[in-house]
Amino acid sequence: IIKRSLSTSTSRNAISNITVIGGGLMGSGIAQVAAATGLNVTLVEVNADLLKKAEERIADSLGRVAKKQYKDDKSAAAKFVDETRSRIKGNTNPEDAVKDSDLVVEAIVEKLEVKHDLFKKLDKAAPEKTIFASNTSSLSIGDIASVTNRKDRFGGLHFFNPVPVMKLLEVIRTSETSQDTYTAMMEWGKSIGKVCITCKDTPGFVVNRLLVPYLAEAIRMMERGDASARDIDTAMKLGAGHPMGPLELADYVGHDTNLHILEGWHKKFPDNPLFVPCESERKLVQEGKLGVKTGEGYYKYN
Ligand code: CAA
Ligand code: NAD
Repeated sequence: IIKRSLSTSTSRNAISNITVIGGGLMGSGIAQVAAATGLNVTLVEVNADLLKKAEERIADSLGRVAKKQYKDDKSAAAKFVDETRSRIKGNTNPEDAVKDSDLVVEAIVEKLEVKHDLFKKLDKAAPEKTIFASNTSSLSIGDIASVTNRKDRFGGLHFFNPVPVMKLLEVIRTSETSQDTYTAMMEWGKSIGKVCITCKDTPGFVVNRLLVPYLAEAIRMMERGDASARDIDTAMKLGAGHPMGPLELADYVGHDTNLHILEGWHKKFPDNPLFVPCESERKLVQEGKLGVKTGEGYYKYN
């Protein structure tokens, strides 16, 4: 009996085809890391141009990984890049892209209504076995899952930017996520080389509940004129040992994403002063200065 239940659970948890929806900063990294460990990946974007951009971002990042992993062997490095790229198929039709999928990881814009529209469609198109996961930074996984008929096969897989470098994966289980789904997500996370922690479905899980208010406090400090952006960043790098200062990190995460997080939390928890959106960040978003990804935020990038 033990043998049978073990093998059933293993086959149910086997994940070899994954679909990543959204090929931006996060989705391209997730697709890359999964393909690098031998999985077949379908990457979905809204049009062919954005798919091409995602493929270029992946090729660039894979080049950096290969340079490190195969530093004395150029042909092994090239083989690794080519083989990994060949496992990633682009698609602009999300329903078609989930037809053979064992796991779907969604990494599209941080807006609940947009995620709902997508998951309603995917729920109808995907096989019953398919596990759905969101990479949301700040929304409730339960709220996202609420529009589907697979709440037991729905959880959170929260990666960190840059995905190929950051070791952590937050695995989020809601009150309705089944034990099998949770186990499959944890096993999958480990199999792609991440260190997994378990989180409840609370705002920002662990990292962002601490990080997002910290970034907002640093922005407010600069807005008050207490110190310059450069000095705040230098302070946190040299005084607290962080790899990036908070203003640099806000540029790196993307101001659209940051603002969506704060606006969402402020609406839900209006009395928490840590969640008040920052005026200078709102202005940057209005001007299209979203940070590193558009070439300008609090700093300029070339
Ligand atoms: N792909 C592949 N490799 C990459 C990479 C990428 N996109 N970005 C950096 N690397 C590699 C580099 O090639 C380099 O490799 P070597 O050690 O072989 O030289 C290594 O990472 C270090 O990179 P750099 O020398 O360019 O620069 P760095 O030392 O400043 O490191 C960093 C870059 C890893 C991004 C580091 O600055 C860092 O850890 N920053 C903080 C990042 C962070 O906090 N991320 C979390 C954001 S919050 C989030 O993601 C959650 C959310 O929901 C908002
Ligand atoms: P991004 O803007 O870089 O990428 C989002 C991509 O999704 C865009 O390329 C867009 O064209 C695409 N997209 C939008 N709607 C789509 C749809 N219906 N179907 C297919 N593709 C669609 O954003 P990002 O930084 O990659 O963030 C994506 C998600 O990951 C968000 O939920 C965000 O909160 C979360 N996240 C972001 C970070 C970060 O540091 N930026 C870290 C962890 C999690």
